[in-house]
Amino acid sequence: MNNFVFTNPVRLYFGKGEIRKLKKELPKYGRNILLVFGGGSIKRNGLYDEVTSILKDLDLNVFELSGVEPNPRVETARKGIDICKKESIDFVLAVGGGSVIDCSKLIVAGAKTEEDPWDIVTEKVKVKDALPLGTVLTLAATGSEMNANSVISNEKTKEKYGWASGKVFPKFSILDPTYTITVPKDQTVYGIVDMMSHVFEQYFHDAENTLVMDELCEGVLRTVIETAPKLVDNLENYELRETILLSGTIALNGMLSMGSEGDWATHEIEHAISAVYDIPHGGGLAILFPNWMKHVVHVNPHRFARLATKVFGVNPSHKTVEEVAFEGIERLREFWTSLGAPSSLKDYSIDDSKLELLVEKAMANGPIGRFKVLEKNDVREILRMSL
Ligand code: NZQ
Ligand code: ZN
Repeated sequence: MNNFVFTNPVRLYFGKGEIRKLKKELPKYGRNILLVFGGGSIKRNGLYDEVTSILKDLDLNVFELSGVEPNPRVETARKGIDICKKESIDFVLAVGGGSVIDCSKLIVAGAKTEEDPWDIVTEKVKVKDALPLGTVLTLAATGSEMNANSVISNEKTKEKYGWASGKVFPKFSILDPTYTITVPKDQTVYGIVDMMSHVFEQYFHDAENTLVMDELCEGVLRTVIETAPKLVDNLENYELRETILLSGTIALNGMLSMGSEGDWATHEIEHAISAVYDIPHGGGLAILFPNWMKHVVHVNPHRFARLATKVFGVNPSHKTVEEVAFEGIERLREFWTSLGAPSSLKDYSIDDSKLELLVEKAMANGPIGRFKVLEKNDVREILRMSL
């Protein structure tokens, strides 16, 4: 393993009714609250009423920023930052999926500086301070509720980048599976693809002797693979939602990267695609990941064969390591297709007309990936395989 330092300060409240912990948490931070949410799902499922009634009971001054987009825009964060400065906001409460939480992370960082928030996203400006943030999660996918990452899009320049700062870890996150029950089937599947992709990004690394992490990664993947097909046929089942919700958090709260550094090239390529075409993140990953795997499998076929046998149940007898590895990749594609995930850019009416632009965007900061460092021709090839 590599040497590592692990810190995760997020207090998780997990389970039915845990929303009541807002009453314990919020009075710690001051009276002016900015409530951030998305396009209205929390109004339709009653969570908005539940949260605002608690805020009212606590007699807090509540300001609102609504309409945070999936693939959240820097322009929306700017609006939130303006409210924070004008109204002397003490605390930001994000209620929603990864997009709402990511946007709120930029708001809490941007509220404490005069620098432009896009310079935070491009990491030209280092975050020195941030307002405190809390979250109520409504969609199992990104792990943003328990990490320090945020992914923000710039509509004008058609860019989308991830950034991170320890200052924007939520102080607490409330995860009640009940609130994820209204997530429609397509978003549920995108979330499942996203959390599995996070495990893959961390599973494929170049560190030695990472047995504990390998087993943890495989355990999370097996759990998701066992649960997901039942869930897509039974979206209102609390226990299945519960399992998937915790899987998404564990998949990207930093724990699976102890002692190794993940690859993340597929995420970079996907961010380029959703920057240009504004497609759902999980949909893009479902198309790309098996193709990335086929492109890099030769780097360490044994690792892919391990995944195939331990996670996808491939029987290795009378097969070469390469055959086992490829069978595992095929099983992954079949599994995602069986859930209803897309498998080709054509599913989003994307052709090769902007292929070079996508390559440029994915490589804007130089070569990507770690398990295999990808140059432009590699990215071009993976995109071609995805058409
Ligand atoms: O906007 P509303 O009306 O709330 O609707 C949302 C949105 O349309 C809806 N939704 C959320 N909870 C719901 C619900 N609908 C019904 N019932 C509920 N309970 O679902 C749609 C998608 O929401 P979004 O927040 O965009 O999804 P997700 O959580 O998948 O977040 C995706 C964003 O996170 C970034 C992605 O790139 C993308 O921008 N990522 C963030 C990461 C992180 N911070 O660590 C890592 C990831 O790799 C990822 O890149
Ligand atoms: Zn992701």
